[in-house]
Amino acid sequence: MLLCFFTRSSFGFVARSGTKGWRSLASATTETAPTVKELPVNYSMEEIVSLCKRRGIIFPSSEIYNGYAGFYDYGPLGCELKKNVKDAWWRFFVTSREDVVGLDSSIIHNPATWKSSGHVDGFSDPMVDCKETKLRFRADQLFFSPVINEQNEILGYACVQENTDEQMVKDAKKQVKDLLKTLDKAGEAIQAFSFKEVNEATEEEMKQIPSPASGKPTLTMPRAFNLMFQTQVGALSDESSTAYLRPETAQGIFLNFKNVLTTSRQKIPFGIAQIGKAFRNEITPRNFIFRSREFEQMEVEYFIPPGDDVWPEFHQKWMDDSREFLLSIGLREDLMGWDVHKGDKLAHYAQACTDITFKFPFGEQELMGIAARGNYDLTQHTEGSGKSLDYFDEQTKEKYIPHCIEPSLGVDRLMLALICSAYAEDEVGGEKRSLLKFDPKVAPIKVAVLPLVKNKEALVSVARELFDKLRVRWNCQWDATGAIGRRYRRADEVGTPFCITVDFDTIEKDNSVTIRDRDTTEQVRIPMDEVVSYLSKQIDGYA
Ligand code: GAP
Repeated sequence: MLLCFFTRSSFGFVARSGTKGWRSLASATTETAPTVKELPVNYSMEEIVSLCKRRGIIFPSSEIYNGYAGFYDYGPLGCELKKNVKDAWWRFFVTSREDVVGLDSSIIHNPATWKSSGHVDGFSDPMVDCKETKLRFRADQLFFSPVINEQNEILGYACVQENTDEQMVKDAKKQVKDLLKTLDKAGEAIQAFSFKEVNEATEEEMKQIPSPASGKPTLTMPRAFNLMFQTQVGALSDESSTAYLRPETAQGIFLNFKNVLTTSRQKIPFGIAQIGKAFRNEITPRNFIFRSREFEQMEVEYFIPPGDDVWPEFHQKWMDDSREFLLSIGLREDLMGWDVHKGDKLAHYAQACTDITFKFPFGEQELMGIAARGNYDLTQHTEGSGKSLDYFDEQTKEKYIPHCIEPSLGVDRLMLALICSAYAEDEVGGEKRSLLKFDPKVAPIKVAVLPLVKNKEALVSVARELFDKLRVRWNCQWDATGAIGRRYRRADEVGTPFCITVDFDTIEKDNSVTIRDRDTTEQVRIPMDEVVSYLSKQIDGYA
């Protein structure tokens, strides 16, 4: 994973220096180099979910009440990982740049916001209900196919939820078996399936398509279902008090465009960045934290001058920077891709949108989007509020409503991609090792401090002093129990990039410690007073 080791110097990071300048070690605590296996990409989501639970990264929300679909809690390691991801993003896109400033707007805006932005009328997914089981499905994720025999007769329909092609055929075959049995035609040959979204089904077809939940034709026709969560604000509980939990952080940025412009001394082009919670009443929350009902977004609205020849260059630059950021925090390059939205997938107001995709265990899916949104939002809010949101260019003496480029990335979705990127197995000394190869910048625990023995007071107190010094800067772990190899393994499993061992030589000879690298298991011996600067270089990218 060479790319993990290099980040861009123009954003305040430098190449990690590896172990140059410090002595490599072979001692009682060293291990044989790991046999590097190709990192697995064939693990299942079940494995990832169970790993996250076992290691205290992510738990189902309200688990003692059997959970709550679409909501998750982040445990001790998960909340550190999340914080580090957000800090890295903020450092890369806000504090390292002079042309982007931050914002933290309220989650609940004046409800007029969502009318103007189009979310009240248009932020919906088509859904179908199963009248018998009361289960609800997204119509664009439910597929039906006629079941046709070799004489070209339609014997009935199969209806399955979106999945891999193989799984969909498998699920449909199961239904066909039951169908043929009820028709007294068991074993009859049928033609290959031709799946279509139930969105495209006619009313006549819908009357015959079986619900995947009841096995009977109990599905309603598709209806628009608004994804915004409603709440009531104030003591009254009528329509006038209806408000919405924001489904994206972006609108808070548009509402504050003038406030930020007049207080930050920025000139176009410039951006406003925001990290915060967003809520969507997803019909089918799925794939763990990939699509949940409460999640966090990291968004920038980068305001630019109008003009068909202006936005393409800015759009390209934001795509390049987004990719670079993702690589800088350890996303596996071989699992990343691009999806350029064609006309039919493009929102009516957008000039362009390109997704950066990631090959999750359940398939290649959108990780983030980079859109050229024109001036749709500022125009809508100008009309809705009656307040001018235009910009006066001092140089050209032109007045215009700025256009914008919008890179939008989900924190939770990125965490899932990072966990998938980091999950690895190899062998050390013939023993299987399971590890999380988190980049040091985002690793939940940066350093584990290990006194070689726990019953030698002088040694333990030196180790403790070092631990106290390090944890002022980084999240560190104290581990004094068990054989040293076992302790290394525990640190590897939770993705801790560095283990520091304080041994007898430390207190009797050289006042130095050994620092072990998680991925290579290589060790270097470093004088105590150089430990902080060594780790700073490795973790933060600067000394
Ligand atoms: N302001 C633009 C916007 O919100 P979006 O494509 O709907 O665009 C942007 O969302 C990003 O937010 C997605 O690429 C994804 O990373 C994240 N996201 C969206 N819906 C999500 C959900 N239900 N659960 C987790 N992340 C989600």
